[in-house]
Amino acid sequence: MARVVSGIRPTGKLHLGNYFGAVKNFLQMQEEHDCYFFIADIHSLTTHPTPADLHENVKQVLAEHLAMGVDPEKCALFVQSDVPAISELYTYMNMNAYVGELERSTSFKDKIRTQKNNVNAGLLTYPVLMAVDILVHHAEMVPVGKDQQQHLEMTRTYANRFNHMFGVEYFKEPQAYSGTGELVKVPGLTAQGKMSKSSGDADTIMFDEAEKPLRKKIMRAVTDNGPTEPGMEKSEGLQNLFDIMELVSESSTIEHFEHLHQEATIRYGDLKKQIADDVERFVSPIRERIQHYKNDNKALAKAAQIGAEKANESAQKTLKEVREIIGFRKFY
Ligand code: TRP
Repeated sequence: MARVVSGIRPTGKLHLGNYFGAVKNFLQMQEEHDCYFFIADIHSLTTHPTPADLHENVKQVLAEHLAMGVDPEKCALFVQSDVPAISELYTYMNMNAYVGELERSTSFKDKIRTQKNNVNAGLLTYPVLMAVDILVHHAEMVPVGKDQQQHLEMTRTYANRFNHMFGVEYFKEPQAYSGTGELVKVPGLTAQGKMSKSSGDADTIMFDEAEKPLRKKIMRAVTDNGPTEPGMEKSEGLQNLFDIMELVSESSTIEHFEHLHQEATIRYGDLKKQIADDVERFVSPIRERIQHYKNDNKALAKAAQIGAEKANESAQKTLKEVREIIGFRKFY
């Protein structure tokens, strides 16, 4: 079984885009591979969250992943800071990462622009920590999107550099992996491209969101003035709504509204109401399970504990071997 590692940023509540773009793939992968999925709470310190927010966010994403079906028995689902070996290996790996190459990383250059007042050293060495996340478990495959390809390339550099430096064949090169299922880009509700929190609250359909505001959001989704003659092309906003339908509605429902659009008799209010109903049907069982986990600290703690045990076992073994390779050898 191939080893898979993926990190989840604990940044607020998950939306439909996160589910179809990432979590759904996790569900498939946990059936097929040896998966290590973790909540990247150490990484999140680069933005200086308050202790209360950090704690809440970690619990939120953990509850959400469990609610969506990530199964602590089938994979290692853990919190990064529960695995001290990661921080130790990060210290060692930092010695082999050159400031010049870190400064050239696209994500760092972006942060210098967007986070001018907080360009901390942790941001600079973010790719080193990410490399450690991956290498500490000797992952072969890393399910990440395009925006993380450069980090993965740097991970390969650090793996090879370590091997070369110490004359060993220790770390292997991890590869990007998109899973066996197809990756779906979910559009947002405000016609600004893919569903994303950074496009504003009105753009996202979140699982842990009450039914009423969720319906309101969908009813307010951006469309256009309506087709004036049969066979017209769909505007971006309207196409987005049809794309969302593809994910949550029955095919007969989709056909029905496609037909109404073709003959220019479609009423967007009806379309949106149908989508709101179908979204609710899809979201509500997950929403209930999220609430269940959030109210059951024991269940949440148990899941985190099982994950921490698995991850620590694998990480400690690596750390022990690395210390030996580096030359930290006991002589007393
Ligand atoms: N950098 C990733 C992101 O922003 C999160 C992450 C941290 C990660 N460590 C990782 C992803 C290790 C894959 C493997 O989405």
